Formats: sequence, C-alpha cells, structure tokens
Amino acid sequence: MSFVATLPDRGVPEAWRALARRAISHRIPPDQIDWQGSGNLFAGAPLPAEAGPHEARVPQAFLRLAGSVLWHSAPERFHLLYEALWRLDQGEGAPLSAADPLGHRLGRMAKAVGRDIHKMHAFVRFRELPAKGERRSFGAWFEPAHHTLEPGSTFFVKRFADMDWLIATPGLIARYEAGRLSYEPGGQRPDLPDDASEALWATYFANIFNPARIKLGAMRAEMPKKYWKNLPETRHIPAMLADAEARVERMREAGATQPRPGAGTVSTRYRATMSAPAEQPGSLEEARGAALQCRRCGLCEAATQTVWGEGDPNARLMLVGEQPGDQEDLAGRPFVGPAGRLLREAMREAELDPDSVWLTNAVKHFKFKPRGKRRIHQKPDRSEIEHCRWWVGLELALIRPHLALALGATAAFALTGDSRPLAPRRGTIETGLHGGPVLLTWHPSHILRLPDRAGQARLRQELEADLATGRGHVAAARPPMASLATD
Ligand code: URA
Repeated sequence: MSFVATLPDRGVPEAWRALARRAISHRIPPDQIDWQGSGNLFAGAPLPAEAGPHEARVPQAFLRLAGSVLWHSAPERFHLLYEALWRLDQGEGAPLSAADPLGHRLGRMAKAVGRDIHKMHAFVRFRELPAKGERRSFGAWFEPAHHTLEPGSTFFVKRFADMDWLIATPGLIARYEAGRLSYEPGGQRPDLPDDASEALWATYFANIFNPARIKLGAMRAEMPKKYWKNLPETRHIPAMLADAEARVERMREAGATQPRPGAGTVSTRYRATMSAPAEQPGSLEEARGAALQCRRCGLCEAATQTVWGEGDPNARLMLVGEQPGDQEDLAGRPFVGPAGRLLREAMREAELDPDSVWLTNAVKHFKFKPRGKRRIHQKPDRSEIEHCRWWVGLELALIRPHLALALGATAAFALTGDSRPLAPRRGTIETGLHGGPVLLTWHPSHILRLPDRAGQARLRQELEADLATGRGHVAAARPPMASLATD
C-alpha cells in the first residue's frame, strides 16, 4: 500500500510535522509515502485521518534540523526528513550525524537555508513607496534560493516595526501593514520606484571602492553575483572595474588623501552586517570605527548613521550635547544645524575657541518620528542613553579632558547618572560617573525652543557664562580622569 502526503503552499513546516507524526504513528515506512506539493495531481491513498497507536519520540536536534531543512527548495526534503525520523524511531544508526550520508546531506541543506536567510537580511534593498497614511511605506524585490521569505521576514518585523513594507519574491510576498504580517502569492517583480537612497548607496559604494584591493573571489563569496542585479550599489561594479587600473595609477600619483566628501553620509547599517565590531578600541579612530557599527539599541535602525564626536583629540574641554538632529544625522557631524550655530556664537562670546574642544553627544543616533516628509526630534529614553553611555565613556577615557560640559538634561544624566531636573543644578560642577568634573548648562535647542525673547536672552547669557566658566576651569586645572564604569 502506498500513500500520498500533500503539503500546502504555505505553512509547510507545521503541515509536514503533522503529517509525519500521523504517518509514523501508523509505522508507515518512508518508501510507502509520496510527498507532494499542493499542485501535484498524482492520485493515491491519503494518509489515515486519525493518529495510530505508536508514539514516536525524537530528539530536539531533529526538530531543529527539520525546522531549517523544510524551507529548502529541494523537493526530496520531505522524504529525506521522514527517512531520518523513521530511522531515529527504529534506532537505525545515527541519521543526524555528519558521518552518516543522510545526516550529512540534511546538515548541508540546513546550512544552505541559514545562509539564504542571512543573505536576505543583508541584501534586501527597500525603496520608498507612496505612503497611504501616517506610516512610511517601503517595497523590495528579492530572489531567494530557497523558500526563506517566511522564516526570514520576522527579522524585518523587528527592525522596521514602525513602517509598512512588503518584500516580494517569485514565490511569495510578505506584507507588513499596520503592525500585521501577512503573506500572499508572489510572481513578477513589482514596479518599484527609484529611490533617492539608491543614489546615496551607489555614491557610498563608489566612494569605498578601492580598486587596489579588488578581491573578486572574496567579494563573490560575501555577496554572490546572483544578488548583484537587485543591489543599487553593485550596478556600478563593471564600470568601476573597467576603470580600476587607471584609478590605482591616479591614487598612486595623488598620494594619501582625505576621505571623499559624501563618504560618510550613508547608513552604517550596511557595514554592520558585513563585519563584527572591534573589541575595546584603543584609539579615537578605532572607537569611531566601532561606533559606526553600533547596534546597542534600536536607534541605529532608523537613523542614517552614527554621528561620532569631533574636534581636538587632546581637548581639555569636552562638550556633550543630547543627540544629533536632522541635519547632523544627514551630515554625519555633530552640531551643524541651528543648535550648533547658537552654540558657536555663544562660544565666541565666551572667548572659547571651537577648534580647541571635543564636541560630541550623549546619544550617537538621531531619534525621530516621521511626520509626512519631516522627521520630528524625539527625546532619547533612559535605556537608549544608558546604552550609549559606553561610547561617551570611551571618548572621555581616550581624550581625558579636564572638564566635561553637559549641554542639557540628557547629557547631564549620561555623564552624572543623576536625572534630577537641570534648572537648579545648572551652572554647578558635579562629579561625573567617570570620576571627573562635569559642569551643567543649558542645551542650545532648549534656548531656541523658548517662546519668549526675554527668556531666550537670559538663558543664552547663562550658557555663555557657563562656557566662560568652563574655559577658566580648564585653563587652571590639572589632568584627572579614569574611565567611565559602565556595562
Ligand atoms: N543637538 C544636539 O544635542 N546635538 C547635535 O549634534 C545637534 C543638536
């Protein structure tokens, strides 16, 4: 007697597990079951509708393996898994071991599925679609090697929970709308609009492309060629390769150069997927490189890039703001927008040379809420500040300023660990978590937001006075500073 076990198009793992459990409960051997997809028309007796008397017990390792292999594209996967199940139940050898041909084959299939999911996470490129309501909307086309959209899309739910998006593949479309994930049949590549961020990606890619370091083998291993056609950046590879030799020559002639403008204005998330962050950085440059890959909290997902501090690496005075704003997020530099203008004016009044300080933020990513085309500033919460404290601590430890100046309540909390209101503390010096002095003052954005001119003028004077106090303090002080004790 032979049976047909028919699997649906979606929810295959659950369906296979239910059918396999029923088949083994009747002790039906593997060669008596024909596993088929829903489109197959071969007739045969269906599996018995009720469970049989035998209850098979399998190790967790088998369930984990099946959980991966079932997403593989090979039609024989159902049969191979059932064979492994049968042998486990019969106590026949070690069908999960890599030393067993069946275990070896299943292990390779599970790895291929894992790799495919990883590639999806790394290489899906979203383009913005016209928004239907409040939420921004994105679409992407991807061609996985296996049936990995279902297991792969939960990653995007976590990352992009506050947006609507769809990922279309030839077999299936994942649609996430108003916080709900659903699936529908796939098909042709949808007509997705060009996205300005593609140009940005391409610019970034062209900027980091070093023709003297072309290792096509390694490049293909990390980013197999089949994904290239859907990646905006790789469209430029043939032209860049064609120009490579001449560019190496031009680079040799030109000698060392500054980073190209624009090289920093691209999301660092891409790089974060490509390499692991460094351990404890030993220099400001290393610290900056590691911070560019930071994923300590969720803010990196929506922000364009990490905004690291800048200024004099031997500064005696370190100014700490709250977080980058809209303009800083795009430029990749702190205090380049309206708050930065006010701060520089106040520094001038206080006779403090902006080039002599280290200027940074308590939180290194822009936190915002999209509203139409605008990105509205949101205050970082306690846990985001605490996650980012590690980076400010590193800046303090590497620069060892004589004084840190906290601009506003967020920086005050980041540096002192004390979240009491700022107003009564402003203008005073407290001891920071790192053991050094912290002078507390107003944040320039707070001054800009005040509704009345008189209030603005008063707080601005206080900011200038505090900056002058800071200047005087560092002129007189001796170097202190241990490192900031954080996680
Ligand atoms: N506000 C800040 O706190 N930091 C910036 O870099 C810009 C605005």
